Amino acid sequence: LDELLAEGVRGRHVLVRSDLNVPLEGEGASLAVADDGRIRASLPVLHKLAEAGARVIVMAHLGRPKGEPEERYSLRPAVVRLKELAPFTVKFAEDTVGDGAKSLAADLQDGEVLVLQNLRFDARETSKDDAQRQAFAEELAALTGGNGAYVDDAFGAVHRKHASVFDIAAKLPAFQGDLVRTELEVLTRLTDAPQRPYVVVLGGSKVSDKLAVIDNLLGRADYILVGGGMVFTFLAAQGYKVGASLLEEDQLDTVRGYLAKAKESGCSFILPTDIVVAEKFAADAAHEVVRADEMEGSRFGASGIGLDIGPDSAEAFAQQIHSANTVFWNGPMGVFEFDAFAHGTRTVAKALTGSDGFTVVGGGDSASAVRSLGFDDNAFGHISTGGGASLEYLEGKALPGLIALDR
Ligand code: 3PG
Repeated sequence: LDELLAEGVRGRHVLVRSDLNVPLEGEGASLAVADDGRIRASLPVLHKLAEAGARVIVMAHLGRPKGEPEERYSLRPAVVRLKELAPFTVKFAEDTVGDGAKSLAADLQDGEVLVLQNLRFDARETSKDDAQRQAFAEELAALTGGNGAYVDDAFGAVHRKHASVFDIAAKLPAFQGDLVRTELEVLTRLTDAPQRPYVVVLGGSKVSDKLAVIDNLLGRADYILVGGGMVFTFLAAQGYKVGASLLEEDQLDTVRGYLAKAKESGCSFILPTDIVVAEKFAADAAHEVVRADEMEGSRFGASGIGLDIGPDSAEAFAQQIHSANTVFWNGPMGVFEFDAFAHGTRTVAKALTGSDGFTVVGGGDSASAVRSLGFDDNAFGHISTGGGASLEYLEGKALPGLIALDR
């Protein structure tokens, strides 16, 4: 970005890809942003450009609409929040590349910011057909009216081969935004010679979402602590009965393979020794703590559902985190949205905030979890704005957004 600023941007249209994909709450006209972390993280680059006199056009997506406008996926609530936070003028185009967007872009004044409606309201943004995506990128680039530039600041979307992330970088002079740069610097500290012991805490519902990252971490991390819904597949792989808990039967062999591979690679999996088992999936469900190898011994028998790691496990995980010099955490330990099952996630979050090591929280869900449990962003070494993007980076994959910028 500094290179672009050095070139001079006053009076120039600069297209910025930001990640404003934030969780919303409420309904209809009262829809509002539930966690503004990504909006705050997008502000510095927009501010720098606006201060330098650029005419900024922001491209972003929200949710996964099916290629046509849907009110519940409008970027309006995110723009309302951006307006509250921004020290510069923010305008909103109700369309993405239509007449409204064109005329608002043309009328922009130096230092003003225009946010385009959800890119994914146009099916060409995410199309698998190169020609379709390129045509859309061409129309987006045309909003700059010649002499424009492109800045990719959407770290959370760099793993997507989409028009606004990949194709557009070939249509305009392209620059890396500060958020992308910072995120890469942090994640590189995890992939290249992390300070040991290096502890990884993995949670969330599905093992299948984490397969590639687990595979890659086996040779790098010293300890992998597993909680969340995915842990039941690990417990089942060890031969334990897990009642009606989430279980991915088709992943059992893969998980057994990981447990065996871990032994060879000097990395230890640490699994919970106790589990909070509930009668049903509900905030007020009756529940009790049982040993992880006796889950069906609870009063709910084989119909009990594990909804959190137990207090002994939470304490053991916290101890392990305290003795680490590097910690990466992705995925909640239990159903933290229900207070009765938030203890594991809260304990892990607290341990990270008390750590003297370098701590990184990755993944949209974990970031929202720590904020909704009342933790301050500054208490962690880094909270990544990337969910899938940070995991794919740690998997060692080549990411389309970064490839495009390199080119
Ligand atoms: C995210 O939420 O991880 C990014 O905004 C990307 O969104 P997507 O997974 O819908 O592409």
